[in-house]
Amino acid sequence: MTKPLSNLQIDSARLWDAIHETAKFGATPKGGVRRLTLSAEDRQVRDWFRRACEEAGLEVHVDALGSMFGLRRGRDMSKPPIGLGSHLDTQPTGGKFDGVLGTLAALEVVRTLNDAGIETETPLCICNWTNEEGSRFAPAMMASAAYVGDFTTSDILSRKDAGGVTVAEALETIGYRGEMPVGSQKLSCFVELHIEQGPILEAEGKTIGVVDSGQGVLWYDGKIIGFESHAGSTPMPLRRDALATLSEIVLAVEGIAKKHGPNAVGTVGEAVIGKPSRNVIPGEIAFTVDCRSADAAIMDALDKDLRARVTEIAARRKVEVTLELVWRKAPTHFNPKLIEAVENATKMLGYSHRRITSGAGHDACNLNTKIPAAMVFVPCKDGVSHNELEDATQSDCAAGANVLMHTVLALAGVAS
Ligand code: GLV
Ligand code: MN
Ligand code: MN
Repeated sequence: MTKPLSNLQIDSARLWDAIHETAKFGATPKGGVRRLTLSAEDRQVRDWFRRACEEAGLEVHVDALGSMFGLRRGRDMSKPPIGLGSHLDTQPTGGKFDGVLGTLAALEVVRTLNDAGIETETPLCICNWTNEEGSRFAPAMMASAAYVGDFTTSDILSRKDAGGVTVAEALETIGYRGEMPVGSQKLSCFVELHIEQGPILEAEGKTIGVVDSGQGVLWYDGKIIGFESHAGSTPMPLRRDALATLSEIVLAVEGIAKKHGPNAVGTVGEAVIGKPSRNVIPGEIAFTVDCRSADAAIMDALDKDLRARVTEIAARRKVEVTLELVWRKAPTHFNPKLIEAVENATKMLGYSHRRITSGAGHDACNLNTKIPAAMVFVPCKDGVSHNELEDATQSDCAAGANVLMHTVLALAGVAS
């Protein structure tokens, strides 16, 4: 007698092994991963992923921005496939799970369906989106944004990293500038599994987060022009110190986010002194600001307050400060039918769960603007992510992958 479909489980050990095998590409001494998008390490993990997809019988296509799509045929090939996946790039000091879990769980879903001999009605497509992290090239999630038409392909290809290398050059170097035009791999919907990257699920002892919304994002590039002068002989009242100015801006960002809290956050994550020297008052600094909220009105307030404070600080300190908004992503409200599908699969499998808002940005947030999308979260240790210490348990990863699989099966239907 064949087992009922509801008993189907992914292979937890195989998923866990895949996560640890790919963590070798860019492994750091502290147990994390450094795999910047389109780097040599990214090429290694992409080659591994392509081989694994082909071994699982998938047809792999790469688009003009390097996003990878592994197609599993369904009974009705007239239907656009159901997308599932995430990303394989990491932060400079990232962990083993951010993005990797969702991409390799998608592969594990396909492997499980293959082993069980299950054909779906609608085809499936497992996705590895280029540059989700945004730490080498801005903005984050650029390939999925181009996929939905928020940027042109040529605009993204011309974006440069800090060393002046363009996305086009980086893609050529690693051999992942694909033939397929961006957006031409049609998807009927998209489901992404991810670690929560925050503390809520762990604190509440819940296994699954049914993600119903995501924070909007404001990214700024800032520049401060003060005046370089001698650290010993320039009296304090005469200084136009770019770094002291930045210090005030950092605290202003913190204060503004707190003022609009609890549903707002603000961070200065990068600051580069132009020509640092211990006995020169800094004259030039480049910095970044990242502000987020799930509420569009709060995002407007964050922007207004930040600009007002920066203007006031610059005038008082007699320095020039420019603040350019380089990316604005509206808050995400995931598709109600897909949220319900994730919730139903979670309940069917008997996992403890709650609805949750994503603090981080994800490719699913971009895709949701054009196609129905949803996300599944699992807890991560101490809520820590974007850190080499990032960790999650094998059983939570497996639970998330099971929810992903049963959500996709319910959406795709099983061919009879
Ligand atoms: C991506 O990781 C982001 O939320 O910035
Ligand atoms: Mn991620
Ligand atoms: Mn990330």
